[in-house]
Amino acid sequence: MKKETKDYSKYFDFSDAKVIREEDGKTTLRLNGRHIQIQSAPDYKDEKKRGKEEIRIHYDNAIPEDMRDFGRDKFYYIMTYGCQMNEHDTEVMRGLFEEMGYAATEDRKQADVILLNTCAIRENAEDKVFGELGHLKTLKQEKPGLILGVCGCMSQEAAVVNRLMSKHPHVDLVFGTHNIHRLPHLLRDVVFSREMVIEVWSKEGDIIENLPKKRDGMRAWVNIMYGCDKFCTYCIVPYTRGKERSRLPEDVIAEVRDLARRGFKEITLLGQNVNAYGKDFADRQYRFADLMEDIRSIDIPRVRFTTSHPRDFDDHLIEVLAKGGNLVEAIHLPFQSGSTEVLKRMSRKYTREQFLELVRKIREAIPNAVLTSDIIVGFPGETEEQFEETLSIVRETRISMAYTFIYSPREGTPAAAMEDNVPMSVKQERLSRLNALIAEMSLKSNQQLVGETVEVLVEGQSKNNPNVLSGRTRSNKLIHFEGPKDWVGHFMQVRITKPMTWYLNAEAVEPPQLAALSHGA
Ligand code: SAH
Ligand code: SF4
Ligand code: F3S
Repeated sequence: MKKETKDYSKYFDFSDAKVIREEDGKTTLRLNGRHIQIQSAPDYKDEKKRGKEEIRIHYDNAIPEDMRDFGRDKFYYIMTYGCQMNEHDTEVMRGLFEEMGYAATEDRKQADVILLNTCAIRENAEDKVFGELGHLKTLKQEKPGLILGVCGCMSQEAAVVNRLMSKHPHVDLVFGTHNIHRLPHLLRDVVFSREMVIEVWSKEGDIIENLPKKRDGMRAWVNIMYGCDKFCTYCIVPYTRGKERSRLPEDVIAEVRDLARRGFKEITLLGQNVNAYGKDFADRQYRFADLMEDIRSIDIPRVRFTTSHPRDFDDHLIEVLAKGGNLVEAIHLPFQSGSTEVLKRMSRKYTREQFLELVRKIREAIPNAVLTSDIIVGFPGETEEQFEETLSIVRETRISMAYTFIYSPREGTPAAAMEDNVPMSVKQERLSRLNALIAEMSLKSNQQLVGETVEVLVEGQSKNNPNVLSGRTRSNKLIHFEGPKDWVGHFMQVRITKPMTWYLNAEAVEPPQLAALSHGA
């Protein structure tokens, strides 16, 4: 069947672009001497849509037979920006590359394919990527056969795709967050056509199961859901990641069981808002708390999750988390602002009082819980009093650590159109005051641990001193202590000797029982 050709004129509003081919749904144009093949391009209008369209799950994603040798004697290199979601997408792409016969390299000069897996959350994240593309231009000139690709959240933005097409002709491939599984096909298109290939889907997204994943170490990410329907007014994620859709519990559980069998020590369940898990199931009542209850009985030592939205954090979940076991006492709970007025303009859909009440309930049920958060300062119109409400909520809730950000306007989001009368110097000053408070809170929470014996999972050797090992407690605190390399990958007990602001020094109480625990990941 012949595919219809879409009108992409809004993506090439540059006068010197010429359409040279329109066939099979693809448009090829010439711009600055480069042929650009658009298979599909992002569209904000489509990205905003949240229709009733059924989410399809695809299980059959085998790499085509003729692609299985495509990367023989070739190397790939992926640079990953942004959140854990992107880190995990990179693991999927690594899996795909390796199934095509490519090998990983850490040396970009050796690479035959370089991918930038990008983040669009704040302007400085985007600036970094464009800066990197500038550096890679020289490499591409030295090695014209190099394939340079841009994927991830920035690719979902029409303005970015437009800029890549007009200003970065040395980019060969642009694809988005919904079509990662198409990587082998797209690479083939680039190699055979030698055109810049663009394929970005804006549709709400399906779920693609059974993709290969190349994981390292003893800790694994596990997606439980994709997308976000919250549409906080400052945030670009609902546009770049599509609508909320949950993987079926049986698929998640099968993956976790498999990781347990392979000896992984820790998993982190991933979603932009894991508390919304299961809301989209038409045929069953099964939510995040039910999933956690089921995962509790799987023999994997530590289970984390990120990120949770305060709004959907229900009593059932608190009750399940309070049972402990492999469900650890670390809860990352972004609250963004302590002012009800600002929260309203952010469209977070909870008040300061509701957040305080949630924290009270969590602390009552899980007294040793370590809470961390994300906070934005300088949201449009934020007053000094409103900012001080953020400072006071940090104290009241005894947050141990927080990622703090200056608000960054994102094109196409409602907040970007709000009047902003807070000067940048004021925003910066608020950020430093907040950071000073967070440092104080972090040190205070670490000081409470002095003399205590805690379990750590030993994650690696310190870069500066090979005699020093580092690990994490159940509550996700970073611990440094002396010990030999062969303790890495094991659980052990350490006693906290000296609390620092962002980590704790400790000493081994008893070495791990290496023989009993020596199944590696
Ligand atoms: N889904 C997660 C957040 C993902 S983005 C959640 O809701 O918790 C990670 C953090 O980036 C957010 O929590 C927020 O603090 C920050 N952030 C998002 N958009 C931003 C923007 N436009 N400017 C500054 N910070 C932003
Ligand atoms: Fe962004 Fe809000 Fe969704 Fe988090 S919940 S990803 S901040 S829209
Ligand atoms: Fe960035 Fe996309 Fe994650 S915008 S924070 S990489 S979901």
